Amino acid sequence: MQFFKRVGQKFMSVRNLDVKKIEAGLNTRRIGRCLLYKKSVDSTNDWAKESAEAGDWNEGTVFISDSQTKGRGREGKIWHSPPGQGIYLSILIKPNLEDFYIPWFTLVSGVSVCRSLRKITGLGIQIKFPNDIVFQDKKMGGILTEAKWLGNRVLYGIVGMGINTWKEPPDVPGTSTGWITSVSNELGYQVERETVIAEVLNEFESQYETIFSVGLGPILKEWGKLSNTLGRRVQVDRSGETVCGWAERFNERGDLVVRTESGAYRTVTLAESVRFRS
Ligand code: BTN
Repeated sequence: MQFFKRVGQKFMSVRNLDVKKIEAGLNTRRIGRCLLYKKSVDSTNDWAKESAEAGDWNEGTVFISDSQTKGRGREGKIWHSPPGQGIYLSILIKPNLEDFYIPWFTLVSGVSVCRSLRKITGLGIQIKFPNDIVFQDKKMGGILTEAKWLGNRVLYGIVGMGINTWKEPPDVPGTSTGWITSVSNELGYQVERETVIAEVLNEFESQYETIFSVGLGPILKEWGKLSNTLGRRVQVDRSGETVCGWAERFNERGDLVVRTESGAYRTVTLAESVRFRS
């Protein structure tokens, strides 16, 4: 179905997602085999959470929407989610794991989104620590991982992914100043969102299963290769403290090890953010 929608100052052609087309592109066993779609929702992460709390859905269920009215990013930021201009989805996972493994979900998701976008576009898309999907330092997507645990066991995890696919920049902060971009903007032509979604889910399943079959090793290696952060001068703002130094390597948990100007090493966890310094 095609209709026209006013987005900021522009009238844009907006097509609803074709769920059958996504399903046709899947080669997964579990991830996305149950694909729930709504034309609009507050946040796919909240929708997934409510469903998980109600005990309704199994591992691998994907919640997807054409737009979000309360899309959320990390650190309480708003994730602008206009209709037809991006991909907004959340994957429900119920791994039989200890809470120690929760940060691994962020690693798996970042690597999956980055690899699938590279495959489809041929562009040198990268991961900015810990969860930004970037092209030439411009943000193209982001990941919001949430989880619930009891004692030391994971009850469920929700992996929310937002990918900008717009062709015409919507009126959202950052698009005019050049630190936000989209897949279509960089390619010069419109990508089919269904193709991207299917590839992301295929890649996610493959990376996720690696955790159980081999462990985090191969994912960490790939995470390092795709990083735009290693080797750069970074700053981390914590309450009461600012850490500055060189992003040197990732440790076995995926935390960033920073060598400070005094030569001391500091660890930045996956729950924190870094800024680049010149
Ligand atoms: C970030 O970069 O801070 C993370 C952005 C995550 C956005 C996605 S869109 C789908 C899912 N639902 C949300 O409300 N947020 C995530």
